[in-house]
Amino acid sequence: MELANIIKHLGKPYFQASNCLIYNMDCLEAMAILPDKSIHLTVTSPPYNIGKEYEKQLPLDEYIEWCAKWIQEVYRLTTPTGAFWLNLGYLSLKDRAKAIPISYLLWNKIPFYLIQEIVWNYGAGVAGSKFFSPRNEKFLWYVKNPDDYTFNLDDIRDPNVKYPNQKKNGKIKVNPLGKNPTDVWEFPKVTSGQYRASKERTPHPAQFPIAVIQRIIKAASHQNQIILDPFMGSGTTAIVALELNRPVIGFEIRQDYCEIIANRIDNFLKDKSSRVEQMSLFI
Ligand SMILES: C[S@@+](CC[C@H](N)C(=O)[O-])C[C@H]1O[C@@H](n2cnc3c(N)ncnc32)[C@H](O)[C@@H]1O
Repeated sequence: MELANIIKHLGKPYFQASNCLIYNMDCLEAMAILPDKSIHLTVTSPPYNIGKEYEKQLPLDEYIEWCAKWIQEVYRLTTPTGAFWLNLGYLSLKDRAKAIPISYLLWNKIPFYLIQEIVWNYGAGVAGSKFFSPRNEKFLWYVKNPDDYTFNLDDIRDPNVKYPNQKKNGKIKVNPLGKNPTDVWEFPKVTSGQYRASKERTPHPAQFPIAVIQRIIKAASHQNQIILDPFMGSGTTAIVALELNRPVIGFEIRQDYCEIIANRIDNFLKDKSSRVEQMSLFI
């Protein structure tokens, strides 16, 4: 599947660059128009139904049904060797839970095969007084076929090895590229505020850190395989995909966020081409 084919189905995008299409659309409506098995990897974080500025809070059963519907569409669009990486947090359940992992509520609604749950420890956050201070969200790694999926471990090894020269039978034991990064990932979240705002921060209130998405896209896809983010937000998935030479499609329901995405990608592409120009001066 080529991006040109996507345009045939969805029409003119809100924003287009080489290898990138952004649609100002409801993702459920947009995905319904796309053909089966046209996406290799979906990386996304949906609204959590917790009253953020970009969501309309629904009764819980309606929220769960809506999640089941869009996830079913992602499943249909995914190639037989493709994957789905889903970032989820918590919501409160009246009389039942202060903060239940949303993945518990979606467990039997997701048709994919679960490879693993990754704990993302994001560093700073609110301080608890009658409970432990929350410091994690989850990334759920799903595939279509547990016997045939992409895992490029060497591309994401962690070079921070404690005993790099450790030997076994006279041979260095540790992979020279580093160790497996494990299922607990420590990446600071994107913060706001006059003094502590992250460099990559945009006006979007719930932005993925670039480093997390880099690890996922490198691990779970190859160059030229199409990446999808149905809840594109500020465009993080798009700029990481472009940096890693993967074509990318995004849906975002709010036009003001589409504008953030368009500006962010434009700036990223300008930086990229000036980096290439500077490199060429040294060749
Ligand atoms: C948690 S944010 C995603 C943030 C994103 N991961 C980033 O790095 O910026 C969820 C986004 O989904 C968008 N959204 C909500 N419902 C949508 C829908 N039905 N279709 C497309 N986008 C939707 C919201 O406007 C919001 O920007």
